[in-house]
Amino acid sequence: MSSAAMPTTAIAAEPANVLEAHDLHRHYRVSRGVFKGHADLRAVNGASFQLAAGRTLAVVGESGCGKSTLARLITLIETPTSGNLSIDGINIAGADAAVIRGLRTKVQMVFQDPYGSLNPRKQVGQILEEPLEINTDLDSAQRAEAARAMMAKVGLRPEQYSRYPHMFSGGQRQRIAIARALMLSPKIVVADEPVSALDVSIRAQVLNLLMDLQEELNLAYLFISHDLSVVRHIADEVMVMYLGRPVEQGPKEVIFAGARHPYTVALLAATPSVDPQARSKRLTVKGELPSPLNPPSGCAFHKRCPFATEICSTERPEMRPVDGRMVACHHAEEVAG
Ligand SMILES: Nc1ncnc2c1ncn2[C@@H]1O[C@H](COP(=O)(O)OP(=O)(O)O)[C@@H](O)[C@H]1O
Ligand code: SF4
Ligand SMILES: [Mg+2]
Repeated sequence: MSSAAMPTTAIAAEPANVLEAHDLHRHYRVSRGVFKGHADLRAVNGASFQLAAGRTLAVVGESGCGKSTLARLITLIETPTSGNLSIDGINIAGADAAVIRGLRTKVQMVFQDPYGSLNPRKQVGQILEEPLEINTDLDSAQRAEAARAMMAKVGLRPEQYSRYPHMFSGGQRQRIAIARALMLSPKIVVADEPVSALDVSIRAQVLNLLMDLQEELNLAYLFISHDLSVVRHIADEVMVMYLGRPVEQGPKEVIFAGARHPYTVALLAATPSVDPQARSKRLTVKGELPSPLNPPSGCAFHKRCPFATEICSTERPEMRPVDGRMVACHHAEEVAG
């Protein structure tokens, strides 16, 4: 039925998920050192989530919690050790090589470092045309036209087509990286800390550009950040990770209104520009991040958690619904961020 024929009282259908992950794991076999044998490092240790077209899922957590590993799984650079991953409705586990190649064009990546991610010997035009050259039948005139059109979309001037990356500022380079990611009309963009390396003064411009492009192109974003003030600006859904596992996930408004996992509460308290009310309930995380090679028993957060009781060191809390979000904590009802 065309939308024009829909009765006006019809409830709009939920947008389809372009990304679905169920219990994703990625383990690395690593050496523990001479004579100590090998062990499994669980970089991603059971992550489940969905992402719909036009929406942003922010993945949050301190360094080493598995964010970039998750990004490599979603962009099909690495395969999961176990779990299910579907992209655009296709389960990658059963897909043959040709299907995977097709899916790779649908998920594109924007990296943190706009200086390291662009080939310094290529002109902007060449950088943007490269994905078209590899993946489409467009001729060189068509590719050049597409590159210039994309430059205009991301706020670069067409006459900058023949310039080299070093001739641009960090913010402009990130615009080039975003343009490159969009050349093949992906459905999903994975952005791994895309504004963390930029001057504070230009972060908002690049975030606003990403949000405008999302609206125009109905893009789904998996947005990785350790900065909750950025997440608050851009996310629809938030997933907080700790040692490879999501510990709290749900709509942004719900989580920012009051976290239910002590780790999220601590992250919010440590974020300077987040609302002062949250900051007044200051909660600091004691101690170092444990090694993912030797995670604590029970709840991996228990040695650092001010709410920990006996059960926390013996039983691993599973994700469960509490107060409008999912949370993995035995005492979530008592925690109020
Ligand atoms: N290729 C790899 N081999 C072994 N360990 C890895 C590899 N990639 C990442 N790790 C480890 O996995 C954990 C998660 O890393 P990463 O995904 O980079 O976290 P984040 O991006 O959140 O900082 C870390 O302990 C890291 O050392
Ligand atoms: S399960 Fe226990 S240790 Fe883990 S976050 Fe909740 S209260 Fe803290
Ligand atoms: Mg990382």
